[in-house]
Amino acid sequence: MSPSPEEFNESARGAAETHRWRGLDAYLKSQILGQDPAIGEFADALLAGEMGHARPGRPASLLLLLGPTGTGKTQAAVEAARHLHGENAIVRINLGEFASEERAGFLIGSGGSPGFLGESVKRLRAAGGRILLLDEIEKAHRRVSDLLLGMESGFMGGGADLVDLSGLHMILTSNLGTSEVIEMDGVARASIRRHLEQEAAAFFRPEAFARFTAVVVFNRLPRDAQARICARMIDDEAAYQARALSLRFGHPVRLHVGAGVSRRLLSEGFHRTLGARPLRNVIERRLRGALVESRLRGALGPGVSDALFAVDEARGVRAKIVRSRIALP
Ligand SMILES: Nc1ncnc2c1ncn2[C@@H]1O[C@H](COP(=O)(O)OP(=O)(O)OP(=O)(O)O)[C@@H](O)[C@H]1O
Ligand SMILES: [Mg+2]
Repeated sequence: MSPSPEEFNESARGAAETHRWRGLDAYLKSQILGQDPAIGEFADALLAGEMGHARPGRPASLLLLLGPTGTGKTQAAVEAARHLHGENAIVRINLGEFASEERAGFLIGSGGSPGFLGESVKRLRAAGGRILLLDEIEKAHRRVSDLLLGMESGFMGGGADLVDLSGLHMILTSNLGTSEVIEMDGVARASIRRHLEQEAAAFFRPEAFARFTAVVVFNRLPRDAQARICARMIDDEAAYQARALSLRFGHPVRLHVGAGVSRRLLSEGFHRTLGARPLRNVIERRLRGALVESRLRGALGPGVSDALFAVDEARGVRAKIVRSRIALP
């Protein structure tokens, strides 16, 4: 018997979904560099919830991402949402902003008002999203973490101020315990994991810690991983600025990246303990500075089709004009 139109649609939708599920691990590994073991565990845990293997009425997953600052925890959650459900499929709350009793009340709500968390979840569902990213859980007021981890069902709170978290992925990130591991050189991944898990279990209390679907540990980023991240960030920034100049000049503009630029910016932006965070700042500052300088000098302007970021030993990264062949009206 041939399928009814509804069945056909269902299976076509299923095929697209299966395709996205299959591609999640590879997509995340292409975006988050130098974290393959962590990303593998993260993708597996997300998919189990995503593919309907969580208990009905419960969150699809409750994940804890641990690891030093600037290593890709937040970015991994953002990219997972983008891949699975599209650009607006995530709501991100920095729990560090809810450290006081008063702020905790504002987040959780009381006496019939849903609070900021409830409002955010409503917004997320309305946008078709399913990922609730809760950063810096260790800085939140105790009431917040107790409530988030104390859920017996997918409903949080009590009485009129219930927040329905069922079917959502709750991704919590934290730097708990990382200040010591950052100094551990050459220590096996398994020992680092044990240390971080012990710290986190003590912080959340073991019975609450046991509720996490998965605990994923991100590594400190070694120099070779930061070198790859640096090259990627430079390409992204150059592409972004080329689009902006094309719009402004009214014709296509290409920005090329010369040899040595990546090495130069890495040597300035590499940081052993702050991960890739300083890199992004250095890259944006230097490339934008080079464009501003070239435009003020009158070299880069309408009519220029190709410019090159190049290293000038004395002056750092500069934008040189390669070609000006657009005839202006
Ligand atoms: N492994 C990585 N691969 C690619 N980019 C990365 C990686 N780690 C960090 N970045 C980049 O560095 C910046 C900071 O990363 P992110 O916000 O994900 O760090 P984090 O681990 O959440 O840090 P924190 O603990 O301070 O919140 C982002 O611009 C991100 O794109
Ligand atoms: Mg973060």
